[in-house]
Amino acid sequence: MAAASIALGIVRPSYLLLLLAATSGIVSPLLLQATDTVSRSHPLSGDRRLVSQGGKFAVGFFKPVGGTPDKWYLAVWFNKVPKLTPVWVANRVAPISDPKSSALRISDDGNMVLYNQINSPIWFTNITSSTSNPTIGVILDTGNFVLTLASNLTNFLWQSFDEPTNVWLPGAKLGWNKITGLNRRLVSWKTSSDPSPGYYSVEIDHGGSNQFFYRWNNSENYWTTGSWTGTMFSGVPEMALYPKSLLTYEYVNNEQENYFMYRTNESKIVAMFSMEVVGQVKAVSWMESAQDWVPFLAMPKAQCTVYLVCGTFSICTENAFTFCSCIRGFSQQYGGDRLYGNLTEGCMRNVGLPCAGNRSNSSKKAKVDGFYALAVANLPNNAWSVAAASDNECKHNCLNNCTCTAYSYSDTCSLWYGDLINLVSPTDSSPGQSIYIRLAASEFSSPTKTKKALVTGTVIVGGIFVLSIVLIALWIVTKCRFSSVNKVEGSLILFKYRDLQNVTKNFSDRLGKGSFGTVYKGVLADGTLVAVKKLDGISQGDKEFRAEVSTTGTVQHVNLIRLLGFCSERSLKILVYEYMPNGSLDRYMFGSNRVALSWSTRYQIALGVAKGLAYLHEKCRSCIIHCDIKPENVLLDASFLPKISDFGLAKLVGRDFSRVLTTLRGTIGYLAPEWISGTAITAKADVFSYGMMLFEIISGKRNLEQSEQSTETFSTETFFPVLIAKRLPEGNIQALLDYELTVNANFNEVEMACKVACWCVQDDENSRPTMGEVVQILEGLVDINLPPVPRCLQIVADRALFSSHEVQ
Ligand SMILES: *[C@@H]1O[C@H](CO)[C@@H](O)[C@H](O)[C@H]1NC(C)=O
Ligand SMILES: *[C@@H]1O[C@H](CO)[C@@H](O)[C@H](O)[C@H]1NC(C)=O
Ligand SMILES: *[C@@H]1O[C@H](CO)[C@@H](O)[C@H](O)[C@H]1NC(C)=O
Ligand SMILES: *[C@@H]1O[C@H](CO)[C@@H](O)[C@H](O)[C@H]1NC(C)=O
Repeated sequence: MAAASIALGIVRPSYLLLLLAATSGIVSPLLLQATDTVSRSHPLSGDRRLVSQGGKFAVGFFKPVGGTPDKWYLAVWFNKVPKLTPVWVANRVAPISDPKSSALRISDDGNMVLYNQINSPIWFTNITSSTSNPTIGVILDTGNFVLTLASNLTNFLWQSFDEPTNVWLPGAKLGWNKITGLNRRLVSWKTSSDPSPGYYSVEIDHGGSNQFFYRWNNSENYWTTGSWTGTMFSGVPEMALYPKSLLTYEYVNNEQENYFMYRTNESKIVAMFSMEVVGQVKAVSWMESAQDWVPFLAMPKAQCTVYLVCGTFSICTENAFTFCSCIRGFSQQYGGDRLYGNLTEGCMRNVGLPCAGNRSNSSKKAKVDGFYALAVANLPNNAWSVAAASDNECKHNCLNNCTCTAYSYSDTCSLWYGDLINLVSPTDSSPGQSIYIRLAASEFSSPTKTKKALVTGTVIVGGIFVLSIVLIALWIVTKCRFSSVNKVEGSLILFKYRDLQNVTKNFSDRLGKGSFGTVYKGVLADGTLVAVKKLDGISQGDKEFRAEVSTTGTVQHVNLIRLLGFCSERSLKILVYEYMPNGSLDRYMFGSNRVALSWSTRYQIALGVAKGLAYLHEKCRSCIIHCDIKPENVLLDASFLPKISDFGLAKLVGRDFSRVLTTLRGTIGYLAPEWISGTAITAKADVFSYGMMLFEIISGKRNLEQSEQSTETFSTETFFPVLIAKRLPEGNIQALLDYELTVNANFNEVEMACKVACWCVQDDENSRPTMGEVVQILEGLVDINLPPVPRCLQIVADRALFSSHEVQ
């Protein structure tokens, strides 16, 4: 407040002075220095910056990170965000090579003109109404860079909000003016370091409907937001999740205009929408604790929906570390900063097809090309249908044409010619079809050992998968037939409070206190030991509680604590679980009575918890985010098989909402950065917590062994996750581990576990693997790369800000 008014006091009178000076012809440079203004006498050049009154935005010359060293752009960026984030770029296609000899000036006709190092105008505002009144360029606190009359600052002759680049700021209209034809749309950058227009754009429907169209190369429509319903676009239901206190929307469609606008609560979040180089519009908010932008909306949600995003002969896999990968028989032909959406950035054949002009120089009888089956979510849509009676005939139709690259046969024969694009890996929701890809015969004749192993592996895994599906199906069928008697609420027993008093000897044998209440030991009439949890602070009504509990009751997995029954009488809410004789994991790792578990036991625990979480996230009917993964919530049975407890107590999330705003829960030390920023939470928050816990399982110590006296020594040097992440590339992590704990350890497993843990705690949740992937990695089915050092943890460690206190 104080800062703002001081700035006001200094800046505003200078306009008056400027006006006086301009009209009286007296120019005194010292008096005219307005920090947010470019004027006739004060061009913008070199490293001078304009800063808006409240200090929120700046204008100046910038050079993209990772870009060519001598390419500079005139841009507007967030002045208070330490990571330089351009929100508007003037000379997108015409970089300048030297800001010192370039300048943004007010020309004689009142326009703003950017002159490059050889004094050629390379960008200009194009106002035609010639005015004799002096004009100035001002950067406003909204991020709008405007050209106005010096005599009337609210009369915008030109504004950057009318010519957005890839970023759409709060308060700016995105849409078109039906009278003037002005079309405000977003166009992606070409690459992450090149602001020139890329292939992807988004603009409002000019046909009059209330929706936005996504286009590739200004032609191919690849996605639409769906119509505006008043609270959200029908294709983006997540929009309705954010409270009005953070984000409000405004849709206007009248005689003059059709536009969409949003506003944010600036005291709470710094946010923007941008069309990313990968063809998705993402809403991101600045997260102080991570020193980075964190996405809270993605449109479209699925990366692989984006047209041609991976180029040719490449397959897009949702939520993978790198979502584009070459299909078998092809290799990558791009490097460095990737231009997404470009045909030439895809993959190339390793071995050319002999019929492609190379027959002559091969031996007299060229071997016939072969095909392999590739599983895809959907068949690519540029197929040609031909008549064929069988799979074999369809295949021969393809072989007969040299440009035919793939076929698929199911009643009809579909052929694809030339480049294959938009291949997407199957997912849970679309299990997929097979397309047969043509490769030269030599690609089949001498498969390398690893390829063979891989294929066999896939077959075995596939076999096991099919077998387990059959078994599960059988099990479900038998279960449905033969159970269902004398149990209430599905498979759950409904207890009376009085019964539970008996079962627990009037709640006398206390096992512990968890995040949701106190747990007591009990014995059922048939001798079964149970853990009885008296919940506190549950304000839910009886009906909602029953609904949630019965959903939770249906979630059954060997690595999840089994809910046996419950009691709901007035405000008393009690859950009855199976009893775990070995208690919770923390007892074995920390504290005075710790018992060192062998490495193989710890690895089994890590794997088991991963399986349990993967089940919660991916396999049950509605995705359950645990929200509070920590050793205290991992219980061990008699043979140290881990079972996750307390799941389903956090909000249940429907399948269509990958994110949900939840009130801050969980335990600091295991909390993903997105919790702290107040942005939406996905299953990846659990992945983060799992990663933090995995570090503890590996080290056998708390990550934050922070006693009162050690506060000062706690730093990057002692913060185990950062230490591990830094040492991993050098390969000498063994020295960091407790000798006694790893003496019999399988060192490959230790290293693998360290890598997984590091990937899980990445700042950007998109970089974190899914729990399903973690399971595969820990089982040795998939290999992974070296992870980068998670920046947010490093910062946290450097600042020694952590404490292991419980929040709420
Ligand atoms: C500037 O405006 C004039 C008249 O409106 C138009 O003809 C011209 O194409 C514009 N130039 C640029 C570079 O936009
Ligand atoms: C400044 O310009 C605005 C917009 O054109 C106009 O509404 C307003 O009356 C002008 N103010 C003065 C003092 O001329
Ligand atoms: C993209 O559009 C431009 C202009 O319409 C066209 O010349 C070009 O061939 C298109 N690119 C591709 C790869 O289709
Ligand atoms: C065809 O043969 C030429 C010369 O032998 C070779 O350079 C080229 O890579 C081959 N093309 C393919 C598609 O294999």
